[in-house]
Amino acid sequence: MDAKGGIELTLLQGAPLEAQVELFGFATFGDPTKDSVFKSVDSALGGVLADVARSESFEGKSGQSIVVHTHGRIPAKRILVVGGGSKTEFANPHIRDLAATVAQAANKAGASSVGFLLPSFGANREALLVQLASEGVRLGTYKFGRYFTGDDHKRPMALKNFGIFTDARGKKPNAAQAKAFSAAVVRGVQIAEAVNHARDLINEPAAAITPIALAADAQAIAKKHKGSMTVTVLDAKKCEELGMGMILAVGRGSDQEPRFIHMTYKPAKKPKKKVCFIGKGITFDSGGYSLKPSQAMEDMKVDMSGAAAVISAMDAIATLGSEYEVHAVAACCENLVSGRAYKLGDVLVSMDGTTVEINNTDAEGRLTLGDAITYARTKIQPDEMFDFATLTGACMVALGPYTAGVMSDHEGLIRSWMAVAERTGEDMWRLPLTSRLREQLKSPIADMRNTGDRFGGAITAGLFLKTFAKDTPWVHVDIAGPASLSTTRPSQPKGGTGFAVSTIVEYATRS
Ligand code: BES
Ligand code: MN
Ligand code: ZN
Repeated sequence: MDAKGGIELTLLQGAPLEAQVELFGFATFGDPTKDSVFKSVDSALGGVLADVARSESFEGKSGQSIVVHTHGRIPAKRILVVGGGSKTEFANPHIRDLAATVAQAANKAGASSVGFLLPSFGANREALLVQLASEGVRLGTYKFGRYFTGDDHKRPMALKNFGIFTDARGKKPNAAQAKAFSAAVVRGVQIAEAVNHARDLINEPAAAITPIALAADAQAIAKKHKGSMTVTVLDAKKCEELGMGMILAVGRGSDQEPRFIHMTYKPAKKPKKKVCFIGKGITFDSGGYSLKPSQAMEDMKVDMSGAAAVISAMDAIATLGSEYEVHAVAACCENLVSGRAYKLGDVLVSMDGTTVEINNTDAEGRLTLGDAITYARTKIQPDEMFDFATLTGACMVALGPYTAGVMSDHEGLIRSWMAVAERTGEDMWRLPLTSRLREQLKSPIADMRNTGDRFGGAITAGLFLKTFAKDTPWVHVDIAGPASLSTTRPSQPKGGTGFAVSTIVEYATRS
């Protein structure tokens, strides 16, 4: 399965030890000398593998790996053993990092083909592991290199083909298994491509990814799925007609025109329900007149990560197919300062008529999202809606950089969302919508103001949004931390992560 010319993923059959590949990789969980695959490879190599493991203190811990040359003793040129950590603590999503590690090592060694033996965790986990390993290969070889001019970055990747063995003894899968495995590869590749596409959108500078550019991207995706997807893009005039006073105010300070994007996927059969995913699309957040200090502003091109996630996810959702009618909505604009910018003390009239006094122009996301939520609730009328937003630094203070804060007062919906996030391995944690904190949003001159105090900042932002969601089942996901990271792991380089894409796709296509 090859999408957009990336590393091809295939399923391999036969005895792994006889594989004609340049690199054969597998994992051991703890002490390698107790692992049967390790033992058989070691004896084929005349004990070299165990020697190397001993001299390099390889104990099968996560993060460890060893490589040995086979010197023609078996068809594979190199053997890579990766540490899987404790087998009992191994959750399915960890396979992404294992597969990514193997793919990266192959690239580094200049190997063009890999045979990777899937660790065995029983038949009921196999297909999912095939999917997640496929994701890991594509995610782990992602690079955002288009602005480098040196030759190093132009060189194509050595690795071309990543083959997956599902059985250590070379047992052939039955027809049903084979079908499930191929579907899993396709699924993994599609999801990873959507995640990588979101990463591209996030990593591009704000000068390139403007609201108009985001709208063009959504249109290109819709065009790819002509039979099942449509897209509507509203300009400032259309937003004005709909009374979207909040998104218009935020975008007014910029020369970049705002765009309101609405993508719709319709299944061939009658949809089981209507789901709407809403993304924050601030293409650059200077803070406005509540100007951010330079350091805090530096990475603010990532403030459209929610929009990138919902737009990119639609591509995979349409390819894989959903039983739901799926909508993606993103209110996109830039938060800058100018003679036309909105000011502190301004009172905005939102799409649902609620008036909002501005006491901080840097709390712009909740304003744009408020109108987007009203649009979704009244124009789309979904059974369920979710929003994804790099909304508050307070959420990162509460949960750290890797974990998204999830808020909802709909018990059923938040439970099913969290269960899907658990499956995809995206770190999410529930925060309460403490209603007593609403006091902080009281304004002396309007229905409410846009920010509260410092304490509980992620929650007051959630409460602000709830005003617009009203009775429509709704879940708010604050992704300010995990949307972009300065630390890495094998399946995730620095920068935009594409966080939320895989859970959105999983939710829409398999729950
Ligand atoms: N886009 C920021 C939040 C953010 C911070 C995202 C760090 C990613 C990394 C948001 O618009 C913002 O400025 N929030 C303010 C809210 C405050 C003024 C109530 C914040 O968190 O400081
Ligand atoms: Mn802001
Ligand atoms: Zn922002």
